[in-house]
Formats: sequence, structure tokens, C-alpha cells
Amino acid sequence: MPFCSPPAHPDASQEVPAVGVKVENLVKNFGSLSVLKNVSFEVKPGEIFVLMGPSGSGKSVLLRHVVGLERATSGRVMIEGHDAAVEETRQHVCIGLVFQAGALFNSLSVYDNLALYLREHRVGSEAEIKTKVLHALKILSLENTAKKFPSDLSGGMKKRVAIARSLVMEPQLLLYDEPTSELDPVMAATISEIIASLRDQYRVTSIVVSHDRDLALNIADRIGLLMNGELIMVGTPAELKASQDPRIVDFLHPKFDLHNPRFKKLET
Ligand SMILES: Nc1ncnc2c1ncn2[C@@H]1O[C@H](COP(=O)(O)OP(=O)(O)O)[C@@H](O)[C@H]1O
Ligand SMILES: [Mg+2]
Repeated sequence: MPFCSPPAHPDASQEVPAVGVKVENLVKNFGSLSVLKNVSFEVKPGEIFVLMGPSGSGKSVLLRHVVGLERATSGRVMIEGHDAAVEETRQHVCIGLVFQAGALFNSLSVYDNLALYLREHRVGSEAEIKTKVLHALKILSLENTAKKFPSDLSGGMKKRVAIARSLVMEPQLLLYDEPTSELDPVMAATISEIIASLRDQYRVTSIVVSHDRDLALNIADRIGLLMNGELIMVGTPAELKASQDPRIVDFLHPKFDLHNPRFKKLET
């Protein structure tokens, strides 16, 4: 889904620079629940930053702050010098967000799912919209799906359509929430390749939220490891693998302990 206020880049012939993101002392509480505990990190222009961590660690909440869907308790997210919480930021920086569940409209064809945002924001004529939609579908090798409906597609194809929909506004910043969840390993690898090739071909800055270790270790330029709302490490995949921190070792190599099962036999 694009989060932009068009026309973001009126002159399409000009190369759009990749943007950097700074998360500064971000704190988020929901009532008494402390979800993000003073999180700070920087994403460099054009890199893939994977925010990794177990389920419930606050990854999706953090991502929502980057698109301004969530208000920080304190601290802030800055995108190329603009506060992410401010609506005007969308006029300076175009962000694409790939939701975890895809969030496609089931009653609309793939083509119309992609065209919807462009039509709502009157981005050009119907012919210009068609060019943009077909281009985004081509990037994801989805040319044959334009007339299909989401219910006709496999899980992997739906994820690709969701990525294509985020591309229609040519974002400078692409955010993915669990792009490989619910996919088989082959399809997960394909999605990982797509994320990496979008960085290489379009120099788009990417923040990927995931608990998928293979994805993170294969495509990340750098990884941030979030545990229980705290960022416990930021480093390259090699630095993460070399870490001796038992929390990181445990996360990367979860163990089964047959002598101490998590599910205890009930006393009768
Ligand atoms: N809108 C909300 N209101 C209250 N609690 C929330 C809300 N959104 C998320 N949470 C809580 O914040 C914590 C982190 O959630 P989330 O960021 O979704 O985790 P994950 O790392 O799995 O993406 C969880 O305990 C979740 O229940
Ligand atoms: Mg999540």
C-alpha cells in the first residue's frame, strides 16, 4: 500500500534519491504495556535493514510508527529529516508498505487493486495509470494475473501482488511486514530474491520486519534484533552469527530439550 501524497515526484525523468531513516529513542506504551523501550537505530539510504525478533517483540508496532500509523509515547522516527508522524512528510517521501496479510481487496481484480490508489489520488489519466500498473506487475513477473482476483492466487502470488501494489507510486522507502510468513521455503526464497533485486535495481531503502532467520541472514545489509521491546544488537549478518550473547545464540539456534519439554505431562 503506498503512503504518499501525490505528486510526490512530479518530474519522472529525475532520479529519486534513496532516503535514510533514523529511529530516535522510540518509546511506545499501550496503557501499562511497555512495547518499545527506548529503541534507536539508523537505516542508511539504499540498504536492506531487517528488524528481526520473536513474535510479540514489537516489530509491527515499530513499523507502524515509520508510516505514521502509530503515535509514539516519546521519541520519534525521522525520514530524511522529516518527522514520520507528520502528515506533510508523505509529500516529501513516498513510502510503500507491504502488509503481513497482503490486505488485498478480494472484490477487485489484481489490476484494480493496483490502480485503486492511483485513481483515488488522481495520479494521471487512465492511460498513465495503466502504464504504471502494468510496469509494477512486470517487475514482479505478474503480467498474466491482471484480470485475476485474489482468491484465484496462491499465497506466494498474493504476496507478490501486495509488493507490486506498494511499487505503483515508485516509493523511496519500502517496508515489509513478515513478507515470507505462511510461505513454503521455495516461495520464501523467491520473495527474498525479489526484495534484494528491488534494492539493487531501484536503490530503494528497505526495512523488513521478520522472524525468518534465513531471510534475514541472506538478504540483510544489517540486522537489528528486537527482544521484548529492546533492541539488543545491530550488526551485519556475519556480526550477528559471530555473537556470543546467549540470547542471540538461542534465537539463531533454537534447541529442543527432550529432557525438559515445554509441554509438561499433566499430573493425574
Ligand atoms: N493497538 C494495540 N493495543 C494494545 N496492544 C498492542 C497493540 N498493538 C500491538 N500490541 C501489543 O504490542 C506487543 C507487540 O506487538 P507486535 O509489534 O505486533 O509484535 P511482533 O513483533 O510480533 O510484530 C504485543 O504484546 C501486542 O499484543
Ligand atoms: Mg508482527
